[in-house]
Amino acid sequence: MDIKYFLIIAKNTAQMLLVDKTLKINNIKTDLVPAPPESGTVCAIAVKVSEADLGRAKQLLSKEGIEPGGIFEDRKLKLQGLLDSKLQKTVTEEFISILKKIEDGEDLIKSDIAYLLSTEKDKEIEAIFLAADRIRHEIVGDVVEIRGAIEFSNYCIKNCNYCGINASNLGVHRYRMSEQEIIEVVDSLQIMGIKTVILQSGEDPFWTIEKLIALIKAVKDRTGMRITLSVGERSKEEYEKLRNAGANNFLLKIESTNRELFNEIHPDDDYEHRLQCSNWLKELGYINGSGNIIGLPGQTIEDIAEDILYFKNMGINMIGIGPFIPAKGTKYENHPHGDIKLTLRTVAVTRIVCKKVYIPSTTALASLDKDAQVMALQSGANTIMLINTPEKYRTSYKIYDNKFMVDMDAALYAVEKADRKLPTYLRQGAVDSTLDK
Ligand code: 5AD
Repeated sequence: MDIKYFLIIAKNTAQMLLVDKTLKINNIKTDLVPAPPESGTVCAIAVKVSEADLGRAKQLLSKEGIEPGGIFEDRKLKLQGLLDSKLQKTVTEEFISILKKIEDGEDLIKSDIAYLLSTEKDKEIEAIFLAADRIRHEIVGDVVEIRGAIEFSNYCIKNCNYCGINASNLGVHRYRMSEQEIIEVVDSLQIMGIKTVILQSGEDPFWTIEKLIALIKAVKDRTGMRITLSVGERSKEEYEKLRNAGANNFLLKIESTNRELFNEIHPDDDYEHRLQCSNWLKELGYINGSGNIIGLPGQTIEDIAEDILYFKNMGINMIGIGPFIPAKGTKYENHPHGDIKLTLRTVAVTRIVCKKVYIPSTTALASLDKDAQVMALQSGANTIMLINTPEKYRTSYKIYDNKFMVDMDAALYAVEKADRKLPTYLRQGAVDSTLDK
């Protein structure tokens, strides 16, 4: 028998953390997951408990005087009609059984995921992309969320072998934006109506916690925008301080869950520690971002299947999936770029497996093919990140070669061509003026 789960929706983050803590210290197993759309809150986190624990959880919360914003059953998504008699005749038994699981909202196991990632039968591939697109439509809708990214420093102390701005790459012109420069870009994003700013940098010790806190506060005070940080590994205390200062989301990709491969590509990092960081971020109530790179040296389909299971089991909320692209001056500068089709397939299977998550149509895909961003939107992706780093710096944020500068025009092109909707929060003026150009 399947266990039923319920989602306790908190009124704000402080309450969510309190609910989670109260239940945990009373030995109730909880999980933090994105709140369902019917709860009315966008981008909020809900506390998931099993049906068996729900009664006791309610009692405990009421004893503590905590009144949650609502409690919803965590329903399985059931899909009708993925499999019709015509399709049945053209696909394998194994594929039929996997598609039935998807229709019934059942969990896929690793061999199912590997099958979906590797089948070469046209009809099966078509059905996988259709399923992903339907799940995307039913779970997160047709709007493509647009975020603005500011790559505010390309200094980095790490030596990740794939990354063009790694510490030992002497061919890179290093820059740091000042807080004032960052704020100017944030203001311009607000004028466009954008609601989330991504602040990304290399692991740059110059940007101490105190400086980051001051920046977060300045952005919040001025604009009230949601803030996504992508500044690498820090201690739990530091993540907590950044969260308390107003950061909402955090991107810290695992890149690969194959330990050997992780160690090979990250000579300064420890796999367990990366997991630990991701767990801390989740515990602290961040909307938690991860993701992988497709086409790393030696990476197998099994590795990618494990990555997808990891995203699901860790309750990751945002999953960035991009092809590997060689970067000059790095160990892998002559390694071929990742396969676009396999990257798109990974996006589709991730949507099928992880369901209620944000999946960007990544800059790395756009860098290999202008239309790959359109295709990703049609394969399960639902967000686009604009690059808003000022022109004089952006070419130096060369994490890989020939990086495409996704701007509002490129985003509009992809959204229109994929026949999707723009968010209503974008200012009409911003959209029109870009179109007029
Ligand atoms: N190819 C593809 N993606 C890369 N990234 C960094 N270097 C490369 C590369 N050479 C990605 C990583 C990182 C994100 C900011 O960019 O996944 O998390």
